[in-house]
Amino acid sequence: MLKIVDEVDPAFRGDVLAGLAELTPAIPARWLYDLRGSELFDAITRLPSYYPTRVETALLEAKMGEIAALAGAGGAIVEFGSGSSTKTPLLLSAMKPRAYVPIDISGDYLRESAARVDAQFPGIPVHPVEADFTKQVVLPAAIDGLPRLGFFPGSTIGNFIPRTATDLLRHFRHILGTGAKLLIGMDRIKPVERLIAAYDDPEGVTAAFNLNILRRINRELEADIPVDAFAHEARWHDMKGRIEMHLVAQCDVAFEIDGQRFAFAKGASIHTENSHKYGPRGARLLLLAGGWTPLAEWTDPAGDFALILAEAQRNRFAP
Ligand code: AVJ
Repeated sequence: MLKIVDEVDPAFRGDVLAGLAELTPAIPARWLYDLRGSELFDAITRLPSYYPTRVETALLEAKMGEIAALAGAGGAIVEFGSGSSTKTPLLLSAMKPRAYVPIDISGDYLRESAARVDAQFPGIPVHPVEADFTKQVVLPAAIDGLPRLGFFPGSTIGNFIPRTATDLLRHFRHILGTGAKLLIGMDRIKPVERLIAAYDDPEGVTAAFNLNILRRINRELEADIPVDAFAHEARWHDMKGRIEMHLVAQCDVAFEIDGQRFAFAKGASIHTENSHKYGPRGARLLLLAGGWTPLAEWTDPAGDFALILAEAQRNRFAP
C-alpha cells in the first residue's frame, strides 16, 4: 500500500517548540491554515455571526464603480494572499486590468484559483506568483511599466500587530513602487458582544478551527496533546484594539512534543491569533505610517467594515 504522508514544514516544528516555551505561550496564526484549517475557515466565512466576509463582499459589489473610477483602469492588479480568489472577479470585471498577479504561499491553491480566473476572464493575462508576501517577491516582467493596484482584502492586515503591519505596508510599497495604489479591507471596532460572537460562534466552528492546531501538532510533530483538555476562547483586548484567540487548559495538563515536555496549569492559555480592529482614524494612521496616503474610504451603512484606497506617493520634503 502506498502511504502518502504530508510533508511537515520544518518551520512549523521550530515555531511550536519556541512559541510554547515563551512566558506567554503562543503559536503564529499562519499555522492554523493547514488543509483542514482552511476548510474550517471557509466554513467560518459562511456563519451568520461572522460578518466580515459578507459585509466586505457586499461593499465591493455596491461600490465597485466608484472604486474603479478612482483606482484607474488599464493597470496590473496584484493580490496579496489571494487564497481562493473569491472577491477577485468583482474587481476584474469592473477594472478591466491589463494583468492580474495573484500571490499566495500555497502553490496548489494558487494554481487552481489562477486557472479559474483565467477561464472566466480570457482577455486578462494571469501571472500567479508562489511566494510568502511578507518576504521578497519578484513581480513578473510582463507587468513592467503598467500602473499597479495592490489588493489586500479580508482584513488580513488585522492579523499583524501594528509594528509588523507597518513593516508589511512599507514592504508592499517597496514591491509595488512609488505611484502605486492599494485597496485594503479593514474590520472596524464595534460593540464587544458582536466581536465576540463573530469569533466564538454558537455553532462551534471557530472553536474547531482553533483546536485544529493542536490536532495538527499531534499529527505532524509526534505529540500527545490531550486536545479535549483545551477549550477555545475569544477575548477582546481593549487597549490593543484586538480580538485574541486562545486555547485554555481546562485542568492541569502535561504532554510531549518531539520529546520535549510541556506543562499547563488549569486556566493557562496558548495564544493562537490576533485580529486587530480599527476606527477610521486608526486605519488611516496605520496606512500613513506604512507609507500609504489614504485617498478614499467606503463602509457599509452600519459601519462594520471599511475598504480604503491609498496611494504610495513620492516622499516629499516635510516641514
Ligand atoms: C482571515 C485573519 C481575517 O481575523 O477575522 C476568523 C481569521 N479567525 N475567525 C479574522 C479568523 C477566526 C480572520 N482573518
